Amino acid sequence: MRVLVTGSAGFIGSHVVDVLTDAGHDVVGLDLLLPLAHGAGASTPDGTRRGDVRVPADVDAALDGVDVVCHQAAMVGNGVDAQDFPAYADHNDHGTAVLLAAMTRAGVGSLVVASSMVVYGDGRYTCAVHGDVSPAVRREDDLEAGRYDPGCAVCGGPVEWRLVDEDTPFAPTSAYAASKVAQEHYVSAWCRLVGASALALRYHNVYGPGMPADTPYAGVAAIFRSALARGEAPRVFEDGGQMRDFVHVRDVARANLAAVERVGSLGSGRHAYNVASGRPVSLGTMARTLAAAADGASPVVTGEYRPYDVRHVVASPAKSRDELGFTAQVAPEEGLAQLATDPLRTR
Ligand code: UD1
Repeated sequence: MRVLVTGSAGFIGSHVVDVLTDAGHDVVGLDLLLPLAHGAGASTPDGTRRGDVRVPADVDAALDGVDVVCHQAAMVGNGVDAQDFPAYADHNDHGTAVLLAAMTRAGVGSLVVASSMVVYGDGRYTCAVHGDVSPAVRREDDLEAGRYDPGCAVCGGPVEWRLVDEDTPFAPTSAYAASKVAQEHYVSAWCRLVGASALALRYHNVYGPGMPADTPYAGVAAIFRSALARGEAPRVFEDGGQMRDFVHVRDVARANLAAVERVGSLGSGRHAYNVASGRPVSLGTMARTLAAAADGASPVVTGEYRPYDVRHVVASPAKSRDELGFTAQVAPEEGLAQLATDPLRTR
């Protein structure tokens, strides 16, 4: 199949291009090479057209002969402050809307779109009294006092985290998360309007070779890896007990391959899938694994906290396994140890 990969020069997009090409697909890439992510004057990789998903003419030209679009282009991370909000809306929501309009003009009705576990907000929990509940919003005085686990939204009592499946309600806590929720809504509306098929892949914490080094837009694995490379200790916020699912970028690329090859057979509508290793680890364990593999300074647990952070987000990989045939191959303990020596993209 001929596949257009947007964001093809990025961390995840470039691995997606490799895996699709190796599987025999005819891949055309589209990337803006945003200076914020790639630095000024970055060269355009082979097979990538320089262009902007927000510019209709750029997308129209890239869609020539395309069967499936794999949309990875996005502005990621938490950002610096509210001055970043327009950029999240512009790149992630306006860009997706322009792409969907162009796909309609070109008659392309199959889309794989990069979504994120951030759409779920603070995950899923069970209260001994009230069963499955949403967690209460964590209060500043609790965080200040070192009470990091949220309580039950109904009674305030203790809750235990449980796996998030794809039916978990949207509950974004940051501008990036809000932009990813809006993106999924645009995709749903498009599928309904034109009878198209879309597959939203909700990535959990992606890491691996080529991930961007420490910037305001980087995830924690890159921040810890960069600290160790500078000879500094990873600084673990809260108490290090927060749970995440770290999934290797090559597994994420393989999930995209499975999605590209199945999106045409799933029927019209937006279908959502978690992309995760299925082997959650605490932040403290993750930091120790990385530090030990780097032979670096032991992590420091700082008790710091950030207003938009969620406590535990742990994926159920069951639906991806059962419906997409996707199971992650890289165990986090091996992949995270490998990350200690994996090259990062410095700009
Ligand atoms: C991350 C990504 C998000 C992505 C999601 C799924 C960023 C900034 N966040 O969300 O965009 O969609 O994974 O792939 O890219 N922490 C520390 N020390 C630090 C920085 C962070 O302990 O120096 C802690 C945070 O408090 C948090 C955890 O690490 O508890 C994860 O942080 P982070 O990677 O920023 O965000 P996620 O919510 O996991």
